[in-house]
Amino acid sequence: MMEIRQQILRILSIMEVPTTKYFLRNCLILSILSTIVIAQVAQRLSSPNPCMSNGKCHECIQTPGCAWCYDPNFGDGPRCFQPSLEYQQQKKCPEEFVNNPDNILSVLKNLELTKARKGAIGGGGTLVSGFEGSYNASESWSAGGSETVFGGGGGAGAGAGQIVQLQPQRLKLQLRARQSYSIYMKYTQAEDYPVDLYYLMDLSKSMYDDKEKLSYLGDKLATTMKKLTSNFRLGFGSFVDKVVMPYVSTLPENLRHPCEGCAAPYGYKHAMRLSTNTQQFSQMVKQANVSGNLDAPEGGFDAIMQAIVCRHQIGWREQARRLLVFSTDASFHYAGDGKLGGIVKPNDGICHLSEDGFYTESSYQDYPSIEQINLNVKKNSINVIFAVTKSTIEIYEQLAKTIEGASVGKLEGDSSNIVTLIKEQYEQISSTVHMKHNASSAVSIKFFTRCLNDSGALVNTDKCGNIKVGDVVTFKIDLEVLKCPKNRADHFQTIHIHPIGINETLIIDLEMLCECDCEKPGDKYYKEYAAACSNMGIYKCGICECYPGAYGPHCECLPDDLTANATTTDCIQRNLPNAVECSGRGQCVCKKCICETRASENERIYGRFCECDNFSCDRHDGKLCSGPDHGTCDCGTCHCKEEWEGPNCGCIKSKATCYAPGVVDGKICSGHGTCQCGVCKCETTPDGPYSGKFCERCPTCSDRCIEFRDCVQCQQYHTGPLKNPEDCAKNCTAFTPSSADEITVNEANNEILCAYYDEDECRFTYVYFFDNENKIQVRAQKERECPEKVYVPGIVLGVIAAIVLIGMAVLLLWKLLTTIHDRREFARFEKEKMMAKWDTGENPIYKQATSTFKNPTYAGKG
Ligand SMILES: *[C@@H]1O[C@H](CO)[C@@H](O)[C@H](O)[C@H]1NC(C)=O
Ligand SMILES: *[C@@H]1O[C@H](CO)[C@@H](O)[C@H](O)[C@H]1NC(C)=O
Ligand SMILES: *[C@@H]1O[C@H](CO)[C@@H](O)[C@H](O)[C@H]1NC(C)=O
Ligand SMILES: *[C@@H]1O[C@H](CO)[C@@H](O)[C@H](O)[C@H]1NC(C)=O
Ligand SMILES: *[C@@H]1O[C@H](CO)[C@@H](O)[C@H](O)[C@H]1NC(C)=O
Repeated sequence: MMEIRQQILRILSIMEVPTTKYFLRNCLILSILSTIVIAQVAQRLSSPNPCMSNGKCHECIQTPGCAWCYDPNFGDGPRCFQPSLEYQQQKKCPEEFVNNPDNILSVLKNLELTKARKGAIGGGGTLVSGFEGSYNASESWSAGGSETVFGGGGGAGAGAGQIVQLQPQRLKLQLRARQSYSIYMKYTQAEDYPVDLYYLMDLSKSMYDDKEKLSYLGDKLATTMKKLTSNFRLGFGSFVDKVVMPYVSTLPENLRHPCEGCAAPYGYKHAMRLSTNTQQFSQMVKQANVSGNLDAPEGGFDAIMQAIVCRHQIGWREQARRLLVFSTDASFHYAGDGKLGGIVKPNDGICHLSEDGFYTESSYQDYPSIEQINLNVKKNSINVIFAVTKSTIEIYEQLAKTIEGASVGKLEGDSSNIVTLIKEQYEQISSTVHMKHNASSAVSIKFFTRCLNDSGALVNTDKCGNIKVGDVVTFKIDLEVLKCPKNRADHFQTIHIHPIGINETLIIDLEMLCECDCEKPGDKYYKEYAAACSNMGIYKCGICECYPGAYGPHCECLPDDLTANATTTDCIQRNLPNAVECSGRGQCVCKKCICETRASENERIYGRFCECDNFSCDRHDGKLCSGPDHGTCDCGTCHCKEEWEGPNCGCIKSKATCYAPGVVDGKICSGHGTCQCGVCKCETTPDGPYSGKFCERCPTCSDRCIEFRDCVQCQQYHTGPLKNPEDCAKNCTAFTPSSADEITVNEANNEILCAYYDEDECRFTYVYFFDNENKIQVRAQKERECPEKVYVPGIVLGVIAAIVLIGMAVLLLWKLLTTIHDRREFARFEKEKMMAKWDTGENPIYKQATSTFKNPTYAGKG
């Protein structure tokens, strides 16, 4: 942290912030620092408790499952907590200071759906007072979201003449952020729902035959529609194009008679207000004259706009399905095309009809844009049906996609199929329900429905088809405030949810619970220039919000503290050589260390320089200070409970376990060691160390073998000085030996091996050791090892005989050897005697006096 601040200061000095403007500079540093702190806080968000990181009341209640404590006496600890995990809190917040708002739903208007009745025409029901607001909102906001089911019971029918297709109609919902809340809404298609059909016809010359057909079919249209709904109205209007070049020829002659048998051209004429009088419809259609124009596209958009927005003139009813049938055989002009005729004023989307039903702004305002049409269609819940001929159907199909609730039907060349077309389109429109809402992006609204399949799965869709009169479709609407809007006024929203094409709405008055009351001026726990904040800040919900310049938990710090170098040195432990600011585990704020909090609530860093903590003490078996019953950890040292000692409190203080058992008046560790941690540590003498569990074995002296010998003998073999059973039973009570075939020493038990010969010259061995309860345990050989009995005279005679035999054998050998030797000597004497005869032959050393030589080169006779 310190390095970061130095860095910032360096950057600021590069930026040449004037040194006199300390204040500004400090603000900058502060804001950068706080950003860093916030970033660090964000890192800790992954900690198990999401509430901990919320430092303000509104942040806290915007986190699901968290509650805020605004108790003025709460102290400096974190005030945002999880009520469900309250036991984890060190300090408990008094009930009356907990701010933990609930989601509250209240029903303001809940009229019953209109039931399908047989043969009922018009309203005629009796007026029953509407069922309002007595809805019991008994839901909880706890885990996983909550929901409210609207039971149908108890409600009353709608008032006379009013048809209700949507239930409920108005709700008030207080909702916390990031908590999903479900409400249920029902939609039904009522019988005899009013239908308004306004027929808008292109009356350019090419539509002449269509007009004839329509006037002929007018009655049939009315009867067909009346079969679908008894409450049916029909209206009529026609259009050509703007009476401006180049759309229409403006030659004076052409203005009067643009073509053979044509009337003067006009933009849009509203001929017949919506009415039940269907004869009038046929009449009006017949009366209407076709006219002529120049270009192929027509000015239908002007007419659609006027037919939509002139609600009163057209006679659209408030509660009705509104159909606008637009029939043409040509494409359309739209915004921008007016420039050709020198018209640049954009369409204002307002009704401009003269007394006799003509559109007055036709030559002064441009055509409306597609989006303008769409907007007004949506606003007025109108279904536009484009009844167009084959040549232009593709372009109108494109257009219908961009206009809400619009559809396209293919018209025969002479409009002979117009009745079927309208009937089909109407049935398709009315059998489909498609929900829309206008919530802002801060609120997420999701629709789920099974449509008409009660056994089916809930599907995330806002649309259902194939609905017939009387069917009831239930929508589950999941609302969630994704993000609290910054602007306080935006915390209140009126959300309209309605099916396309129907002027019935579920209105939800949504209040987002984004703020705490105690953060608003006027509250008891809101104080400006509060003493608790050193008169330098606003006290809000238990914490201080400092005025610019001041900072610190109680606004006790002033900016001068930040720049003064003293700040840093005050946070460094000076007596340590390489100490860092707040021991590197905290932040130096206002000459004081604010130590980091740990993710685990069991761990704490504290001390003036954050030099202490309560989690880094010695451990034993993985437990800090051998666990809480042995001792507590404070600043690196274990503080042991009374009966424990040692660096990790793992040693028991009592020395009871260091006395050898069975020894009266014995000493600790037999007087040859010290008792440490309940275990003997034996001393070492020049002869070697003492050993044994109680240091009872000295290096030179004997062990306790002899002490137990007599008892082992009498108990195991019934021999020895105590072989009398009574003596044995009386004197040997300390142990009963267990027997084993072979005795081996188990070093781990500190077993000591003893072996003795008894009076029968038999050898017996046993081991003794002290078990965990310090009782002597003895394991003895099952049988003694006794020597075999021998016959002594036999051995003596045998030995004598052996000696005699060996002596004789030696004598014989000697005799033999001397005899052989004598014989050899004699034989040699005989031989030498024979060789003593002298040889009279030639004297070996005599040499003749003559000698003979041969000439080697002489080849003749020699
Ligand atoms: C829809 O109905 C309400 C009253 O129920 C009415 O005030 C409103 O003008 C109607 N909207 C349209 C577009 O007719
Ligand atoms: C939704 O539409 C209604 C009526 O047009 C309007 O009063 C309301 O403010 C709109 N709601 C939002 C969130 O825009
Ligand atoms: C209703 O839903 C179930 C399960 O999704 C499906 O098996 C069944 O065919 C559906 N019935 C109709 C009439 O759609
Ligand atoms: C450490 O201190 C915190 C706060 O005082 C306490 O809740 C926790 O139990 C302590 N941990 C240990 C191991 O003593
Ligand atoms: C047996 O114990 C008695 C006293 O309990 C003692 O007088 C006697 O000498 C003991 N006998 C032997 C052989 O140790």
